[in-house]
Amino acid sequence: MYNKLFSTWVLIILISAVFLGVSGCGTSLPAIDAARIQAGQHVYEQYNCLQCHGYDGNDKMDLKKALHKKGLDELKAWILDPGQFKPGTEMPSYGGVLSDRELEDVIQYLRVLANQGR
Ligand code: HEC
Repeated sequence: MYNKLFSTWVLIILISAVFLGVSGCGTSLPAIDAARIQAGQHVYEQYNCLQCHGYDGNDKMDLKKALHKKGLDELKAWILDPGQFKPGTEMPSYGGVLSDRELEDVIQYLRVLANQGR
């Protein structure tokens, strides 16, 4: 009786540990979703990100580094108003251009590019 109860608890603790491990690791960015990546690629091409950042995201700079360093909110803030972080940057502001959804999609897409890395 005691043993059975004990092993049930061990099992529960193990399962929670695995769950916390899986959900707790990584960044604050949302999980990757294939449909949104496609939408993100569309945004990337339609709004000229491609022209500056290239097909692998590394033309003007190492996007991979930025994507690993910054959380979702920071990346959004950057894309909406890059001049706020780097006055005089070549990159245009996308505030009022991209919807929140488009922003999230393009960031998802950038994460995929970053992970394909060079
Ligand atoms: C006219 C060129 C140009 C366009 C268009 C452009 N970018 Fe950029 N972007 C840059 C440059 C240059 C930098 C590097 C910052 C710097 O040195 O000025 C940069 C930096 C970034 C960064 C990294 C910021 C950091 O944390 O270091 C992200 C993310 C980014 N761009 C996303 C985008 C997205 C998404 C689009 C399209 C919606 C886009 N860019 C369009 C030129 C551009």
